[in-house]
Amino acid sequence: MQELPTCSAEEISEGLAALRSLQPAIIAIDGPAAAGKSTIGYQLAQKVNYLYFDTGIMYRAVTYAALARGLDLHDAAAIGALAQSIQIDITPTPPEEAHERLVNVLVDQVDVSAHLRTGEVDRNVSLVSAYPAVREALSQQQRRIAHHYGRGAAERPGIVMVGRDIGTVILPEAPLKVYMEATIAERARRRYCELRTKGKEVSVTQILEDLKQRDKLDSERAHSPLRPAADAVIIDTSDLSTEEVIDAILGIAQNRTQATTEDQEP
Ligand code: CDP
Repeated sequence: MQELPTCSAEEISEGLAALRSLQPAIIAIDGPAAAGKSTIGYQLAQKVNYLYFDTGIMYRAVTYAALARGLDLHDAAAIGALAQSIQIDITPTPPEEAHERLVNVLVDQVDVSAHLRTGEVDRNVSLVSAYPAVREALSQQQRRIAHHYGRGAAERPGIVMVGRDIGTVILPEAPLKVYMEATIAERARRRYCELRTKGKEVSVTQILEDLKQRDKLDSERAHSPLRPAADAVIIDTSDLSTEEVIDAILGIAQNRTQATTEDQEP
């Protein structure tokens, strides 16, 4: 594992200031399932009052909509047309409800939030998200939202956007890109505990198989495969606490800002 910076209280506040000074105000976080992207992305966003935007939820919404309509998920044209035709709206939940879910999702004005993390959606979302027409439809919306927040034009001063291709394809201009990974065993353990906490009966073997299958589909697809951007900072979160990962990101932001300032000095 690479060496990570540690932060004193002073460095933490300098790190937060560095995050707030990013231009455009966009933090891109990518990585495989259960690497810690949502937990870290959400907490970082809270610290700097940025919008937390989880793009995976949009692919889940299309998958759920396709299942609910009884469409054949192998029919790329039908699924692509569906993605182009539905309206997906995402609203942040109040912080006191964040333990339940971080955002509410509406498909054509109907709240589908409770249906997006079922085993059925988990097992089919990577198939649906590999279709170029689906990606095209959703990436346009993702870019529009990111630019709206990134240039400081919205009610929040910036955005943390989380997904698989944010740093590589959606927002290559993001000034801070983090790629989070963890061992498959640790990711399966986290997902197992998360589902158990929510009262769901799950098999760890099944979770492991589902994660492996999703990793394979996400990283081997032709269009926007999962991989780190050339300028992303890679963090292996297997043995790190949430606080340690956040400290590491703050340290990286601070180093970046210092390096940029030094470059600009005469
Ligand atoms: O929460 P978890 O990490 O399990 O997954 P997610 O972020 O909700 O993403 C679900 C699936 O959507 C991924 O496995 C990918 O197939 C797809 N996805 C994608 O292709 N591109 C993104 N930017 C985000 C998600």
